[in-house]
Amino acid sequence: MPAKWTPDSWRARPARQMPTYPDAAALAGVEKKLASYPPLVFAGEARDLKKQLAAVSEGKAVLLQGGDCAESFAEFSANNIRDTFKVILQMTVVLMYAGGLPVVKVGRMAGQFAKPRSTETETQGDTTLPIYRGDIINGIEFDPARRAPDPERMMQVYGQSAATLNLLRAFARGGYADLHRVHGWTLGFVDRSPAGEKFRELADRISDSLRFMEACGITPDAVPQIREASFFTSHEALLLPYEEALTRVDSTTGDWYDTSAHMIWIGDRTRQLDGAHVEFCRGVKNPIGLKCGPTSDPDELIRLIDVLNPENEAGRLTLIARMGDDKVMQKLPPLMRRVAREGRKVVWSSDPMHGNTIKSASGYKTRPFDRILGEVRGFFDVARGEGVHAGGVHFEMTGQNVTECTGGAEAIQDAALGDRYHTHCDPRLNGAQALELAFLLADRLRDRAVPMRALAAND
Ligand code: PEP
Ligand code: CO
Repeated sequence: MPAKWTPDSWRARPARQMPTYPDAAALAGVEKKLASYPPLVFAGEARDLKKQLAAVSEGKAVLLQGGDCAESFAEFSANNIRDTFKVILQMTVVLMYAGGLPVVKVGRMAGQFAKPRSTETETQGDTTLPIYRGDIINGIEFDPARRAPDPERMMQVYGQSAATLNLLRAFARGGYADLHRVHGWTLGFVDRSPAGEKFRELADRISDSLRFMEACGITPDAVPQIREASFFTSHEALLLPYEEALTRVDSTTGDWYDTSAHMIWIGDRTRQLDGAHVEFCRGVKNPIGLKCGPTSDPDELIRLIDVLNPENEAGRLTLIARMGDDKVMQKLPPLMRRVAREGRKVVWSSDPMHGNTIKSASGYKTRPFDRILGEVRGFFDVARGEGVHAGGVHFEMTGQNVTECTGGAEAIQDAALGDRYHTHCDPRLNGAQALELAFLLADRLRDRAVPMRALAAND
């Protein structure tokens, strides 16, 4: 029998990746204030996402989860939010058209501000300062005052997340996502890319289909899905004082929900069975993601599933594999096989970003586009081999025309990375590269095998 869960029971467990705030009273003050603020999302919305993810786990839908590596205060603008949203909509129609399956859209947006790091400190010259851990914790500038963890930043994250969500809800429901506007979603630089050209052809076909459907009486009034999209938010549940402060009892069910986002996930560095992050996540009813990296072990994964999804509820748990292009064929099969053999209902998703980060010759942290594609291909091949539904992808992208990942159809070279390298943390796909990735996924979805074992396990 596990010990009783409470929103603060994580505090008795070892917690990795957490900052040490210099002023405990200031931290407590912020936690108290946040706990009195309205929820950012509603429990019913999180339940709706869980239902949609249950369909993914049964092979009846596809998950598309993407957005910034780290949102920042500096890059916060309506245009940035709109442009990321546009590219996700474009990727969605590419996948829907090819795969003939609904696409569940989840943004790494409206709360993705805390970053796990591989070192505690950063040294420049003779000076050593705390490492930058995301705008929710400290500032990116190499300056002692900015690098000190400041709890007031949580209040700014709450405000920015609320404003971002407000805009996303308006875009999703207010006519912007209407399929009749499919031609208008393409950003200028994406339009000029090879993927943009392919998209134009697809958009023409969709417009033709809509005209035909309307002639048959299938109109937006009759079928609101033509006019509206459902869009959900997610982030890594890393900074637990923030997550705890936004955790509330849902009045309709009496269950606890973390109202900071519809879905939260546990990172590769904080997935210890007895750790604080697993303890926190087990008690909230939101859909939960769990990153699985090259050090994930099948026995340990089953024990984590026991803790995070003891009732084997479909849609509750998404396993996000981030192995690296060079390791996916070796490391993923034992995990998928074991989970399927034990009849665990999960969504399998591929994060082809975090196992493929390298330092380029010019000194930038980058990700070669070929390796990203290689891992996605490997993921689909392994899933097919194991008879498991390749449920979705998880990626870092922006609608902006950045030069952070090398390669792609426009062949961004190492030497060009400095042109428009803006990320606060990891290198992101730009709009054209993200769309190119969607076309590759579409090819894989089109010729997917019937996931025999996954369907059997779900019966
Ligand atoms: C992330 O998704 O931003 C991340 C840090 O991933 P991981 O925990 O898989 O390294
Ligand atoms: Co990242």
